[in-house]
Amino acid sequence: MTRTLKHILAACLLLMTLLPSSMGCQKPNIVLILLQEAGWGDFESHDPIMRTPNIKKLREEGLFLSQSYVQPMCGPTIAALMSGRYPHTFGCMEGKGMTELTKFWVNETFTLLPQELKTLGYSTHLVGKWHLGFCHPGLMPQARGFDTFYGQMLGGHKSQYYHNSTDGIYDFWEGRNIDWTAEGHYKTDLYNARALKVLNETDSSKPFFLFLSHYVGHKPFEVPQHYRDTFCSHVTNEKRKTQCAMFAAADQGIGQIVQALKDKGVYDNTVILTMSDNGGPALEGGSVNWPLRGTKQTIFEGGTRSYTVFKAPGLTATNVTWSGLIHAIDWLPTLLGIAEGPQPNYIHGHDLWPNLQRNEPSARNEFIYAVNDFDRRKHSAFRYKQWKLIKGRGGSAAKSGWFPPFQLYNQYPFGGLDKTKFTNESKLYNLDTDPSERNNTYSDPNNAALLVTMEAKIKEYLVGEPGAKEGLYPLQPFAFYPVSSGDNVDQTGALATCFCQPPGLAGSTDCPTTTN
Ligand SMILES: *[C@@H]1O[C@H](CO)[C@@H](O)[C@H](O)[C@H]1NC(C)=O
Ligand SMILES: *[C@@H]1O[C@H](CO)[C@@H](O)[C@H](O)[C@H]1NC(C)=O
Ligand SMILES: *[C@@H]1O[C@H](CO)[C@@H](O)[C@H](O)[C@H]1NC(C)=O
Ligand SMILES: *[C@@H]1O[C@H](CO)[C@@H](O)[C@H](O)[C@H]1NC(C)=O
Ligand SMILES: *[C@@H]1O[C@H](CO)[C@@H](O)[C@H](O)[C@H]1NC(C)=O
Ligand SMILES: *[C@@H]1O[C@H](CO)[C@@H](O)[C@H](O)[C@H]1NC(C)=O
Repeated sequence: MTRTLKHILAACLLLMTLLPSSMGCQKPNIVLILLQEAGWGDFESHDPIMRTPNIKKLREEGLFLSQSYVQPMCGPTIAALMSGRYPHTFGCMEGKGMTELTKFWVNETFTLLPQELKTLGYSTHLVGKWHLGFCHPGLMPQARGFDTFYGQMLGGHKSQYYHNSTDGIYDFWEGRNIDWTAEGHYKTDLYNARALKVLNETDSSKPFFLFLSHYVGHKPFEVPQHYRDTFCSHVTNEKRKTQCAMFAAADQGIGQIVQALKDKGVYDNTVILTMSDNGGPALEGGSVNWPLRGTKQTIFEGGTRSYTVFKAPGLTATNVTWSGLIHAIDWLPTLLGIAEGPQPNYIHGHDLWPNLQRNEPSARNEFIYAVNDFDRRKHSAFRYKQWKLIKGRGGSAAKSGWFPPFQLYNQYPFGGLDKTKFTNESKLYNLDTDPSERNNTYSDPNNAALLVTMEAKIKEYLVGEPGAKEGLYPLQPFAFYPVSSGDNVDQTGALATCFCQPPGLAGSTDCPTTTN
């Protein structure tokens, strides 16, 4: 260590004893806000009809990441964020491994982001959706590194107010116990309020990590009337109005979180990251991915490119767009980089904090969107610089088209549904010149050498291929537990836990007490 550095550290330590923590040299706090089902066009800077002023303000104080990627579905994205690993290495891709009875689960041998941050002295809080397992206490948020948990275990529910799963099982938790008091309350409001409570109560002498995992735009498409009236009365299309109001509700919460951080005097020392878990569903609700192609559950850009805003202390440039490649698996190493922690050796992501901080090109220039090893959809996609190679379909016929925003309907043919011819042929797009994935250049002879390079690179990510990169395989088959229907509900009609025994986990000794 250099002499100067030693002096600075000594001065810092002295300051920390004299000044409030916000003025010392404490590690930055981290607030990660996942906005489920947010489409590329669901923010006011991409569609002025939307009402997301607080996210816009964060964008002005930080960076807009224009090539930030996630998985085409929620569970896999949460797994990637929490583990820093490609979720297909847990056997989880798209819909596979995500049915509620079989439980998707991240192999317990990997420590997750909150566990890593705890080691660095952070308090850790999860508010909202978990979706990484619950049938054994060892899979629940507390066992995976969260000091506190308030939220839901499952991916989707029947209502935004009544927290029953699509199977009719009540799913709302306070820590390890079922929380019946949430019944009847709009979940976005509950999560915003809890985030504020966490911030209010957290001890400022310690850094904190808050993961606010909002359902926001997830179906069912319901929102209290006052959000529609206050923020979205100008929207004439009913579905778009609902979408506008759901995101306005989340955005209002973000405004309150920012204010709470300021009131606490820690705003300047807090990282705030807002992103989507996958693209918008577009067809069912009022979300818009336009001009990107496809929806959630496709590996086109509309399903995988997240509207991402990143604000952090120490950025050299703000209010600019950073167009480097960044993938969900990069956030664990990047956030640990900001927190100056050691990097775990099992991850696939890169620490891109130096690039973000200095507004430099990304150290990442390739990634996989999906691998061709899941039986339901039969496709894979690989990114190399500006090039995207898709093998197979890319998504279902219904979800792979271009869906313009409602106010543009009459400018486009096909009644707003600009359907593309659906084929299984390989596709190569230059996303720099063709971000909407319209011009398939796979057969262009000028691209022949490029394709040879890309094909060779893909093999590095596939199972059992000679030369596959260490750590990227084996591709673990999804672990199915021997559970039967009915095991996942307790006598009160709520979600049960303690009914499976994943290999490698200790027996269930820490089961919840049922409360009414
Ligand atoms: C979990 O990962 C470890 C290390 O890669 C592996 O040995 C083990 O088999 C995995 N467990 C399951 C159930 O897949
Ligand atoms: C914050 O906590 C204090 C003390 O517990 C309480 O009086 C106050 O109402 C809380 N504020 C919010 C916004 O929760
Ligand atoms: C950010 O940039 C935009 C566009 O250049 C400008 O209108 C806006 O005032 C800037 N905001 C801040 C906070 O500097
Ligand atoms: C595309 O591939 C899928 C999955 O293999 C298959 O079911 C479908 O029939 C194929 N469609 C065409 C048009 O070839
Ligand atoms: C499609 O890409 C090719 C290059 O492979 C180019 O020559 C052609 O002009 C492009 N077509 C359109 C409509 O952009
Ligand atoms: C939710 O599930 C609980 C428990 O099974 C049941 O009592 C309740 O009626 C359900 N509520 C709704 C709105 O479906």
